[in-house]
Amino acid sequence: MTTPVIIDTDPGIDDAVAILCALKSSALRVLGLTTVAGNIPLARTTENAGRILALAGADMPVVSGADRPLVRAPFAATDVHGGDGLGGVALPPPRAPARTDAVGWIARTLRDHPEGQIDLLVLGPMTNIALLLREDEDAARRVRRIVAMGGAIAEPGNVGPRAEFNMAADPEAAEAVFAAGLRLTLIPLDVTRKVRAGPCEVAELAASLREDARAAAALIEAYFQSTDGGEIPASRPLHDPCVMLFEEAPALFGCEDMHLSVDLSPPRAGGALLEGPHPVRVARRVDGSRALALLMERLMAP
Ligand code: RIB
Ligand code: CA
Repeated sequence: MTTPVIIDTDPGIDDAVAILCALKSSALRVLGLTTVAGNIPLARTTENAGRILALAGADMPVVSGADRPLVRAPFAATDVHGGDGLGGVALPPPRAPARTDAVGWIARTLRDHPEGQIDLLVLGPMTNIALLLREDEDAARRVRRIVAMGGAIAEPGNVGPRAEFNMAADPEAAEAVFAAGLRLTLIPLDVTRKVRAGPCEVAELAASLREDARAAAALIEAYFQSTDGGEIPASRPLHDPCVMLFEEAPALFGCEDMHLSVDLSPPRAGGALLEGPHPVRVARRVDGSRALALLMERLMAP
């Protein structure tokens, strides 16, 4: 069965790899990309979304959304993704200009499909999804489910002791989405840090005859080099691709139904996940080697 999906994204190196993986998956029918400010500002995440589609030879809408969090000042992750958001990897120019108004486009797309058919795959801050709930709740409730990369349960955070970037960038949006009662599955750092690419994966992709596979090699290599000033690690976690891998092969993951809320404190604490009232399904375990093998199979595919 092929699931129609909308990918909400802040590309972003790992977002780019995730989108390339989704476009190669026979289990997913990507209806379009909506963009959000996150890793880098909106204009760049939107341009990068267009570049990724041009690289893949895929024609579908790119629709820009929120250029800032609901209430907080934005903070970027250029130290990880580079100023261009793609680690300096040159991708083809977008084939078509992006549209604007991601919320309106998502709402129309949800209404153009039977209720309960479309999954929202969220790879960045949840700002667009929170705005969709605020501006068109009836449309939002037509989703089948939301699968989002974010949070940390029993893992340290990556922007604060317990705060993960997507949650920390817009905690108010995440809390609003958690509180909406939609079917929500969270793919936290606890599992994404177990799906790690290293020099072997880079070399295999770099040797491909396909431009998109070689670009994936360059993106992972760039991600590989980008550290927070520490020594270069032997491998790097591929966070966002885990959302696509969960969509396609949920049996590789082990989930737990939890009740959570989002810490709305000022930064470094803000975005941490707390015990709370909102039911959220959380991936707690993953077969990391099989997940990585599936990702490589998709990225290497013609
Ligand atoms: O914490 C990892 C998440 O933050 C990923 O989505 C990455 O792209 C960044 O946005
Ligand atoms: Ca992302």
